[in-house]
Amino acid sequence: MNKTGTQTIETSRLILRRFVIEDAEDMYSNWCCDYEVTKFLTWRPHENVEVTKSILNEWIPMYENGDYFNWVMELKETGRIIGNISVVRIREDIESADMGYCMSRAYWGNGLMPEALKAVMDYLFDVVGINRIAASHDINNPKSGRVMDKVGMKQEGILRQAGLNIQGVCDEVWHAMLRSDREKTRG
Ligand SMILES: CC(C)(COP(=O)(O)OP(=O)(O)OC[C@H]1O[C@@H](n2cnc3c(N)ncnc32)[C@H](O)[C@@H]1OP(=O)(O)O)[C@@H](O)C(=O)NCCC(=O)NCCS
Repeated sequence: MNKTGTQTIETSRLILRRFVIEDAEDMYSNWCCDYEVTKFLTWRPHENVEVTKSILNEWIPMYENGDYFNWVMELKETGRIIGNISVVRIREDIESADMGYCMSRAYWGNGLMPEALKAVMDYLFDVVGINRIAASHDINNPKSGRVMDKVGMKQEGILRQAGLNIQGVCDEVWHAMLRSDREKTRG
């Protein structure tokens, strides 16, 4: 595994980059304050921007670590920040990464998260040398599963009552792509 950390990635509509403390206000008002965004996540909406700032103050020093992967999504057209995509768990021994993501409701339904996830997966496979990229969602949150389908991940199974989010215990639907799956689809 190459510990290259969170490097800037560009897609057709997005710049994926490191968070800076100046992102706090927009991060709070665009997605972290919204219950509809956090409904199936492990954290509740932030009560105020100070909560967002303290999280960024924890995250930003972690960019020093080469195995820390956490991007803010910036829309090229406007320069506004609209969401977050990150590796939530990494295992060096088996070269695997589990992904998490969330985005401002105002931008849902435009294929922006699949665009970000595809680019991050390319980076993790090609630059970091990851072999397996996985993600899971609450069975009651199928829109997240659509993102996984769209980037070509395969559904592997449902782990019953294995997840916990702010709704409580949930059945988790797991999807993944292996490096060899990607090579097969490329022909
Ligand atoms: C899941 C999420 C990242 C999807 O991102 P996105 O950029 O909207 O993804 P897509 O445009 O590909 O849409 C995915 C699915 O969302 C659903 N969707 C699209 N627009 C929607 C809207 N305005 N309201 C509700 N659902 C919508 C559709 O089912 C769509 O699938 P389809 O294209 O086959 O119809 C986004 O909805 C989100 O941030 N949700 C809250 C956080 C979350 O659930 N994160 C994942 C935790 S596992």
